[in-house]
Amino acid sequence: MNRNFALEFVRVTEMAAIASARWMGRGDEKAADQAAVDAMRSMLDTIECRGTVVIGEGERDEAPMLYIGEKVGTGEGPALDIALDPLEGTTVCAVGASNSISVMAIAEEGNFLNAPDTYMQKIAVGPEGKGIIDITETPLENLKRLAEAKKCKVNDLTVVILDRPRHEELIRQVREAGARIRLIGDGDVAASLACCEPDSGIDMLLGTGGAPEGVISAAALRCMGGDFQGILKFRSDDEIERAKKMGITDIDKIYQIEELASGHVMFCATGVTDGTFLDGVHFRSWGATTQSIVMRSESGTVRKIEAKHHFDMKPRY
Ligand code: FBP
Repeated sequence: MNRNFALEFVRVTEMAAIASARWMGRGDEKAADQAAVDAMRSMLDTIECRGTVVIGEGERDEAPMLYIGEKVGTGEGPALDIALDPLEGTTVCAVGASNSISVMAIAEEGNFLNAPDTYMQKIAVGPEGKGIIDITETPLENLKRLAEAKKCKVNDLTVVILDRPRHEELIRQVREAGARIRLIGDGDVAASLACCEPDSGIDMLLGTGGAPEGVISAAALRCMGGDFQGILKFRSDDEIERAKKMGITDIDKIYQIEELASGHVMFCATGVTDGTFLDGVHFRSWGATTQSIVMRSESGTVRKIEAKHHFDMKPRY
């Protein structure tokens, strides 16, 4: 995969972030999401590739744009699979809270799990935890292993968990293990990234969130040298049927990071609202500033890109 694609794709998340950031705190999740989708879709078509959306806004009949299977790009160039979430954390953006991002992961054709729109049980850690986690083990066991790898105590570790009633028992177990917890309202992709950032104060992500977000997180952690495991969690027989149609044969499978995102992958994200990992979009009299992260698994290069966007020089905005 051409390494310059990474810089092409960051323009796409920048554009989506700026468009949705206009809706920050305005209480309209749909409008914020739609703005991100429209901007991402129009920008994607300027990139010279034969892209297919494999993780997107939903299935064709449900999502007017960026649906699973939709073709994007100019139609010339390499065949790429694209996993995207134009606005990860729609509620976060709508209430003006922290950590909503616009995000994309890119791989050569066939390298992402075509995850159905269901839930996934997840565990994510940064590079020190690579190879030692086991999603089938208890939180205590995984925390002990990570503490040993990080040469600290379990009660020095912080676990990020989505604040949901379904996590009551998990939260109890993590508390009993002695670790600290950061409960978040939304946005487990940003939380997975935070596991790899030494200054984030986050060591591990546990719990169940969206399966598509799981694939995107796995792609990011591949680039950053972290680790991730997931198990699909279906809410109904209908979801199981749809998953089978998408090629999932073993519904209880434990997915390792490389089974979710294999080969050479690229990842880029732009902050929409200010967050632990990325600053959000800040509007100025002349335009806006953005902060993005761009990474490639092949080289392990992680770039943070600060950009100034002058609206009068870029009529697209
Ligand atoms: P959206 O961007 O689609 O709103 O997703 C936000 C999110 O918090 C994800 O980060 C997470 O994986 C998922 O929702 C959790 O789902 P639920 O809100 O149903 O618990």
